[in-house]
Amino acid sequence: MYRLEEGLEHDRFANVKIAILGASGLLGSAVCRAALRRKYKVHPFSFSGVENLPGVGPVQSLDLLQGQELTRTLFDLWPEVIINCAAVSSPDTVDEDPVHARRVNVDTAEKLAQIASHLGVRYLHVSSDLVFDGTASPYRSTDIPAPINEYGRQKLDAETRVLRACEENVVVLRITLLNGNSMTGQRSQHEKLLHAMASGQTPTLFEDEYRQPSSADNVADVLVELCERPQLNGLFHWAGSERLSRYELGLRIFERFSLSSEFLAKGKRADLADKLGERPGNLTFLLEPLVGKLKTQPSDISSQLEELRVPDDLYDWYRGHAEDPSRYIRRFKIS
Ligand SMILES: NC(=O)c1ccc[n+]([C@@H]2O[C@H](COP(=O)([O-])OP(=O)(O)OC[C@H]3O[C@@H](n4cnc5c(N)ncnc54)[C@H](OP(=O)(O)O)[C@@H]3O)[C@@H](O)[C@H]2O)c1
Repeated sequence: MYRLEEGLEHDRFANVKIAILGASGLLGSAVCRAALRRKYKVHPFSFSGVENLPGVGPVQSLDLLQGQELTRTLFDLWPEVIINCAAVSSPDTVDEDPVHARRVNVDTAEKLAQIASHLGVRYLHVSSDLVFDGTASPYRSTDIPAPINEYGRQKLDAETRVLRACEENVVVLRITLLNGNSMTGQRSQHEKLLHAMASGQTPTLFEDEYRQPSSADNVADVLVELCERPQLNGLFHWAGSERLSRYELGLRIFERFSLSSEFLAKGKRADLADKLGERPGNLTFLLEPLVGKLKTQPSDISSQLEELRVPDDLYDWYRGHAEDPSRYIRRFKIS
């Protein structure tokens, strides 16, 4: 997979401060690592008290809902760029407590945009393909969104408010389903599948729910490149280079880890009769104009899968269940 190379001139970014909110998350942790590779001065923030991020270092704890503290912290730091990867990122969790989720997903996103505008610094905000209903793929960034679930509505409201608060020096990047390795080993698609299988479940994935997955590392490279491209502003789409159904993705994940596909069940969206209207069937993006302007290019599924790791707590289980455990050898952990 293409990787944004390390900072070419050794100290080019050494004094450039980037504040990364949501640093303990799937995407945020990848952004921290990508920015460090480019030798930026990275300031990671998370919520739940993670003290140290593997491969990154100490993390500052900050509840984004504490508005005064958030403002004070960012004013004291005065970074050159603020990247917002913080969110209540699962539609199901949003549905459990939409009021709380809206405070994080919408109010905080807007507040960060206001702070960035006030400080006169660049603001990168991450949004989602779920602002669309999935009936008219592939979507351009100029297409009219039509979210069909509360998460999608919140992500759309955040986009509108962010772009209103920051008139310049801002990017809203809509992304798709992410593959990758999260710090907790619980957040990404393959981690959820392996945990479900390890606990004796046979997960069901839909053969008529299409996505264009990307990887957290690839999106992180895009965000870091956008830090360096101040002439690129506004709303953009980013995704991987291939479309496939969630079921096909599950099969590819099982194949990558040499696990038997008999532990994966095939379903259809119609099986979810009560929530069918909330699951877009076909979400894909057209990536122009951004893709034509960046060095980082969309990644294909094979290269995304190559990067995936078995969560540490499942490794022994994995060795006992894989048809050919040599297909995945644990790498040494970075601390
Ligand atoms: N994952 C995907 O497939 C996907 C697809 C499309 C778009 N996106 C978007 O991409 C972005 C990143 O998603 P992700 O998957 O990386 O999310 P994630 O793994 O769930 O991480 C969310 C992050 O937000 C932080 N956070 C939540 N509430 C907070 C609060 N009150 N104060 C401070 N931090 C808080 C979490 O901190 P703690 O861990 O400390 O709680 C965590 O670091 C989100 O905007 C999401 O909507 C993701």
